[in-house]
Amino acid sequence: MIHRPELIDIVETGDGSKTLHDRHRDLHYRSTHGARQESDHVFVRGTRLHEREPPWTILELGFGAAVNFTGTVAALPDGAALNYHAVEHAPVYAENVDFHPGPAGDVAREALKQAERSGQTVHCSADDGRIELSLHLVDWSTFRHPELRADAVYFDPFGPRSDPNSWTVECFEVARDHMSPEAILGTYSAASDVKRAMFHAGFNVASAPGPGHKREVTFASLSQEALAPYDLLSRERYVEGNE
Ligand SMILES: C[S@@+](CC[C@H](N)C(=O)[O-])C[C@H]1O[C@@H](n2cnc3c(N)ncnc32)[C@H](O)[C@@H]1O
Repeated sequence: MIHRPELIDIVETGDGSKTLHDRHRDLHYRSTHGARQESDHVFVRGTRLHEREPPWTILELGFGAAVNFTGTVAALPDGAALNYHAVEHAPVYAENVDFHPGPAGDVAREALKQAERSGQTVHCSADDGRIELSLHLVDWSTFRHPELRADAVYFDPFGPRSDPNSWTVECFEVARDHMSPEAILGTYSAASDVKRAMFHAGFNVASAPGPGHKREVTFASLSQEALAPYDLLSRERYVEGNE
């Protein structure tokens, strides 16, 4: 079911970039130490998109404040195309993200406006169709898009304590079923239960240093090679051991 967070504030974070704060649940949509820094580190650069020939196809769990979306548009090589699918079960209002400038901000706001009117999945584009954004208004666990094979998955719900239903084996299976064989899934969580769920969903799993003060973040892929720059974790340790 779609609901809307009601008490949302725009907040400035440690690197000068902005994110949202849900006053009702006391949740920040990105790290308060640096929203843009975290987004670049874990999602845009962490999934190694820059090593792939565009067009890029991205699948995101949690459109939220559109920081990952606007950062991905900014990282696109000149003239390249982007096909961005975001799944969101509690979209914010367009005015909540009025801090994003330029065409990426405009297309994010347009998608949120249309989503508010229709209550259904919407498709918007910018720059003569070069940037396409599909906002799927469903819960991630029910998301099915048989033709979609993403080059990267941004796995970005609130943390396991706030959004426990979004970190299950089934949720990682949904990601797996929509990824190309070399694609990387990035997430900021380093929790053992999260890594275990990734292994159970059939992924190779690796950890890497986090941004700023964060010690560690996690990457998963169906390809071990894709994770070569990171520290591969032992499946036995997480699945059969007691890590
Ligand atoms: C950490 S915020 C996302 C931040 C966003 N990616 C950004 O860059 O601004 C988490 C978002 O995930 C959404 N979410 C959490 N669990 C979800 C689920 N199971 N299905 C769809 N959306 C979910 C929340 O409603 C929230 O908007």
